[in-house]
Amino acid sequence: MTGVTTHQLLDGKRCSEALKKDIAKAAADEKAARGKAPHLAAVLVGDDGASKTYVEAKVKACETVGFRSTLIRLPETITEEDLLHRIEGLNRDMDLDGFIVQLPLPSHIDPERVTLAIDPRKDVDGFHPENVGKMVLGLPCFLPATPAGICELLKYYSIETAGKHCVVVGRSNIVGTPMSVLLSRNAYPGNCTVTLAHSRTKDLPSITRQADLLVVAIGKPEFITADMVKPGAVVIDVGIHRIPDASKKSGFRLVGDVREEEVRAVCSSITPVPGGVGPMTITSLLLNTLKAARN
Ligand code: GUN
Repeated sequence: MTGVTTHQLLDGKRCSEALKKDIAKAAADEKAARGKAPHLAAVLVGDDGASKTYVEAKVKACETVGFRSTLIRLPETITEEDLLHRIEGLNRDMDLDGFIVQLPLPSHIDPERVTLAIDPRKDVDGFHPENVGKMVLGLPCFLPATPAGICELLKYYSIETAGKHCVVVGRSNIVGTPMSVLLSRNAYPGNCTVTLAHSRTKDLPSITRQADLLVVAIGKPEFITADMVKPGAVVIDVGIHRIPDASKKSGFRLVGDVREEEVRAVCSSITPVPGGVGPMTITSLLLNTLKAARN
């Protein structure tokens, strides 16, 4: 071992800055043509700190590309009926091109009912069953932001995917499952042989070690270690966690689902945390909002 690492960082910040330049230009064109910039609303229920940070980042990103944005803050105690009523209002609001309801919701609200209530034409998160179904069939739709952002990042770095074995770890509706669908499609990025691993997978390390492309979205800090990664693999880390770190002024540091420092020595390229998948997710939401405005 020489200790020399040759891995490439898949810089989501840089890629999203490049995409945002194009989005800003398109937003200006849209405004010139229609007399109005694309308009996104974000609904935040309650005071969850992480959700507040994400929603504020989404609203700020809108400003940087010349979109209009509206942040709708609702109390933790709002009833499901009242929230559904607010959603109906947003569906009817002609000034609004798209909106999202930030998840997770308080436990007394059924997220499925909420998702179903959103007009699929305004569902820029791509969570409504109509959009999910269209995604599976390869029809035009809003793609969920995180997997779509990962696809944009793979494109930006011209990462070959055809014929590769992709292992997706985590089967959530918003990341793992749609990611497995998108990477198995006859498209670029895509044409992978996909394995979707989850909490009931037996001998996970033997599966992840087969991955040419490893996408990790399990929500467990630093779960993937170097011995679970095939030498030369491309590693996409979707996780983001605050862990206590007395050596930091803030008292914490951010880590992903992958033990980045040791995996860097094995893989060919990896998304950093922060600055990898996170910025791409937000940029995908902007792309979906632009699409909604054009529709
Ligand atoms: N919570 C975590 N990720 C997301 C997302 O992409 N959209 C929404 N609405 N909530 C989330």
